[in-house]
Amino acid sequence: MQRQKLLYKGKAKSVYETEDNDLLILHFRDDTSALDGKRIEQLARKGVVNNRFNAFIMQKLADAGIETHFEEQLSDDEVLVKRLEMIPVECVVRNFAAGSLVRRLGLEEGQELTPPTYELFYKDDGLGDPMVNESISISLGWATDAQLAKMKELSHQVNQVLTALFDAGDLILVDFKLEFGVFHDRIVLGDEFSPDGCRIWDKVTKKKLDKDRFRQSLGDVIEGYEEVAKRIGVPLS
Ligand code: TMP
Repeated sequence: MQRQKLLYKGKAKSVYETEDNDLLILHFRDDTSALDGKRIEQLARKGVVNNRFNAFIMQKLADAGIETHFEEQLSDDEVLVKRLEMIPVECVVRNFAAGSLVRRLGLEEGQELTPPTYELFYKDDGLGDPMVNESISISLGWATDAQLAKMKELSHQVNQVLTALFDAGDLILVDFKLEFGVFHDRIVLGDEFSPDGCRIWDKVTKKKLDKDRFRQSLGDVIEGYEEVAKRIGVPLS
């Protein structure tokens, strides 16, 4: 399957059409962004690491019965996916307090959240991805009540599967963001799952091994991603 017309260039991935109207190619680039795209840098190997990481995770989720858009890894930095009609809402599950939740509520980073929290954000960089809720999403026609319920159920299922996977590598899955879309009337997991869109800490030292290394200028960003990949068994070569 070959890339055809460029459909969309995101902050870290480009999306191409293919000869099959139901399938797209995602190209993982080395671009790394923070501050809603206001800071962008190139990090060597990131596209390849995230593509392999995402393929591994999507396969694990499919094995657990969660439908995803993943079809096939095409090359080091390309994946073939189903073309979804994306819902412009980001679903965030948190097991421990970090990031915007800490800032919003003045919590201590690392406070355990039991049960895990679930939040929705409107996907709009210009507005800074503002927090929304189910009611707003329904009233504005972004998704139906039933679709939002399915997204919530799937997000919690993903959390169960991945918390166990990371735990086996002596890692803590602190929080993560998912995006869903519709494929032939079904809610399907889209976008990517990589250390760009989640927080992962070492279980013992609490060392950050995710994109916070970039956001907080801690250095060794991709080395952190590779450490996580190695511990959970992602084949990197
Ligand atoms: P937050 O603490 O900034 O709200 O982010 C929570 C988690 O979701 C964190 O792992 C980062 C991820 N996330 C994204 O990857 N992109 C986004 O646009 C948002 C809002 C969150």
